Amino acid sequence: YNVPDAINEPVLSYAPGTKEREQVLATFKEMYNSTVDVPLYIGKEEIRTGKTKTINPPFDHKKTVGTYHEAEKEHVEKAISTALEARKAWASMKWEQRASIFLKAADLIAGPYRAKINAATMIAQAKTVHQAEIDAACEFIDFLRFNVEYMTQLYAEQPVSSDGIWNRMEHRPLEGFIYAITPFNFTAIAGNLPSSAALMGNVVVWKPSPHQMYSANVVMEVFKLAGLPDGVINMVSGDAAMISDIVFENPDFAGIHYTGSTAVFNAIWSKIGQNMGKGIYKTYPRIVGETGGKDFVIAHPSSNPEQVATALARGAFEFQGQKCSAASRAYIPKSIWGAVKDKLTKDVASMKMGSPEDLSNFLSSVIHEGSFDKLAKYIDNAKGAKDAEIIIGGNYDKSVGYFVDATVIETTNPHYETMETELFGPVLTVYVYEDEKWDETLELVDSTSPYALTGAVFSQDRYAIEQATKALENCAGNFYINDKPTGAVVGQQPFGGARLSGTNDKAGSILNLLRWVSPRTIKETF
Ligand code: ALA
Repeated sequence: YNVPDAINEPVLSYAPGTKEREQVLATFKEMYNSTVDVPLYIGKEEIRTGKTKTINPPFDHKKTVGTYHEAEKEHVEKAISTALEARKAWASMKWEQRASIFLKAADLIAGPYRAKINAATMIAQAKTVHQAEIDAACEFIDFLRFNVEYMTQLYAEQPVSSDGIWNRMEHRPLEGFIYAITPFNFTAIAGNLPSSAALMGNVVVWKPSPHQMYSANVVMEVFKLAGLPDGVINMVSGDAAMISDIVFENPDFAGIHYTGSTAVFNAIWSKIGQNMGKGIYKTYPRIVGETGGKDFVIAHPSSNPEQVATALARGAFEFQGQKCSAASRAYIPKSIWGAVKDKLTKDVASMKMGSPEDLSNFLSSVIHEGSFDKLAKYIDNAKGAKDAEIIIGGNYDKSVGYFVDATVIETTNPHYETMETELFGPVLTVYVYEDEKWDETLELVDSTSPYALTGAVFSQDRYAIEQATKALENCAGNFYINDKPTGAVVGQQPFGGARLSGTNDKAGSILNLLRWVSPRTIKETF
């Protein structure tokens, strides 16, 4: 059958008087005033180990909205064996049936589960309703629908045949199981990493971030309701090193689908390499990861200062800067800096911060105390630095929630610590360059960071745009011309970074799905 054409899910407005606003607020209230007890999902079982951690909203951390259970070794082993037992039936299920399950999941999120998945993301990941809508609803739905469409394209791709020789390609799932490790900052990524591998006929052990367990629970509920057979995606939580060690020592480990820090990904790669050296695996595991970023904005003297300021404010501070794509270092020419600074500081001053329940807030808190303390330390350093000053923001307070002001640091040192270190929060650092040093500044952008996730150039001069696009070709897997470096849309800007930002297998594209199949070429004569 033909799958429906994937189109991007429209982003709802949540304006006063809309039905979606009423629904999300009612659901938020109901969830906020009750508790959930998130189990491990292994096969058809919901396992409550009794070893629990509490779930606390980061913007109101004395409040508890639930608990989640942590796995012991035996549960991880059980998750792997359960996945492997489910493999045969799942891998041989017709692709149309697999597609239907994930299309149904998309419809559930678009309809009856929209308010619930958004409210869960608002409560435990401290996202405003607009951030949650873009992530947990629209991006997740888009991943599910576009992946189905890309899968059909991938299967349709066949080698040429000639008289008497028929060639064909089978895109079989990998032989073994896939391990998905997902981050706190996107419910959509948490849903996509296990489901894209599963769509291609693979079975999965999924470990969500401990800070996303509340919405991960809703993701599992949706998958089950959509008819995902037991054992295809098994969700475990707990000690990351313990879980990973067991997974990587299993001979049937066939691939990892990862989003998270560069340091952890490096350790994973090294572990897999060591185990490969010991001859443990039956197959070369696929290693697919999206990691850190130190994403840049560079403005040419010809650029429009208003446009640059808007891009900085939105690119750096939407989602509390907790996006791997967030703008965190900017290079602005002296001639326009006054105008950029004026608008940027005004925009930032108008950003309201607080609980996501107040839909007029533009920002909420950062995810946890560790992140808060790290940001506070860098902000304090800037307060005392000779070569940097805070031009707006700079306050933080963790008495109720982990609130950090949207903060802009201006520096005279292009290698100032916050120009180089990934902070993963609402801090933007600006280096002001002499207009005639455009060429040198391009080199500086290229050489300053080991990452290459996203970046943006602003200019009204076509030659300058062409020059920057070429000079920065290895600096960003997603490059933007006259736009903020965030907000990639599934199906429109396939997302992923180069250098130490990841393996660049572009989430939500055919490239990514290709990593989850092991093609067999068949030549037939008869
Ligand atoms: N895909 C997200 C963005 O582009 C992270 O902002």
